[in-house]
Amino acid sequence: MEFNIALLRGDGIGPEIVDSAVEVLKKTAEKFGHKFNFTPYLIGGAAIDATGKPLPEETVEGCLASDSVLLGAVGGPKWDNLPGDQRPEKALLGIRSALGLFTNLRPARLYKALKDSCPLRPDIVANGFDLMMVRELTGGIYFGERGRRQGKYGEEAYDTECYSKMEIERIAKVAFETARKRNKNVISIDKANVLESSRLWRATIHEIAKDYPDVTCTDMLVDNAAMQLVKNPAQFDVVVTSNMFGDILSDESSQITGSIGMLPSASLGSAKRGMYEPIHGSAPDIAGQNKANPIATILSASMMLRYSFDLEKEADAIDAAVDKFLELGYRTADLAGNTGVTPLTTTEVTEKILELL
Ligand code: IPM
Ligand code: MG
Repeated sequence: MEFNIALLRGDGIGPEIVDSAVEVLKKTAEKFGHKFNFTPYLIGGAAIDATGKPLPEETVEGCLASDSVLLGAVGGPKWDNLPGDQRPEKALLGIRSALGLFTNLRPARLYKALKDSCPLRPDIVANGFDLMMVRELTGGIYFGERGRRQGKYGEEAYDTECYSKMEIERIAKVAFETARKRNKNVISIDKANVLESSRLWRATIHEIAKDYPDVTCTDMLVDNAAMQLVKNPAQFDVVVTSNMFGDILSDESSQITGSIGMLPSASLGSAKRGMYEPIHGSAPDIAGQNKANPIATILSASMMLRYSFDLEKEADAIDAAVDKFLELGYRTADLAGNTGVTPLTTTEVTEKILELL
């Protein structure tokens, strides 16, 4: 089969980790007899430097014309003082919205080989954990009305959390469908004791839950969820939540897997095309030093094969190569910590995973 993949390398470590995942995709294509064509487009700070805009029109058109998008990361100190609507991060929100990617799947599981990198007590993770966070991605406070104005105490700023019933229904359906393919358990996270938008969220989740009698559904308040994730992560199967709560809780769930450098994500809409990216950022402090962990991006490429191209065997092969890599005791700098293991560079990790593929 032949697929066209748009590459958004972005900033910081983005280019290094995307290039690494591209190598893995090329080898996979070769091994299984497919053809992947790659076309790079500018996004984020790199796009600002080259064109003055974080999300050039050409990038949006290129992504819309592609079968899927692989993204590195955007942002960095160089662009931190730009006004909000000209920042690199704005491009990320812009492309998610332009491609209609309302679902963000963020799986977090504890690799057996990484038990020692997990910051939780061994008895807490004795049975491991394996959860799928379903984060709403094109609504809520990220896209609500915002601004500055004069208020009671002088200058003030505001952002608005707003969810339509339609937006909640469609993400709820994704969560329940996802749970059907897993352990049939959905935990919906909100702040319904305070927020009106959360009360609509909760009521809508309950309505959709009626169509999925085979799936258990419970509500959890977000503050409690933050605590439960470190107290008993194994209780979670599918988690469904809003854009901002999902942003925060997915960083937390990644940290308990050992490192944020391991977590991939898939952003999906109603089309087959998706955008795949690591959940971590551009890590400007280690950019260009060949130190970054490319595994989250490699696993994102695997999710692309699975979710957008229906290439299950191929995705399994990539996941298995990563498992093997970890089981053999190889570590990247973020995972090695102070274990005494000499960390591999980004290029060395890539080479090893290619060998194991
Ligand atoms: C993420 C990131 C982004 C987000 C930022 C960079 C805009 O933190 O993908 O989790 O908040 O969605
Ligand atoms: Mg985030």
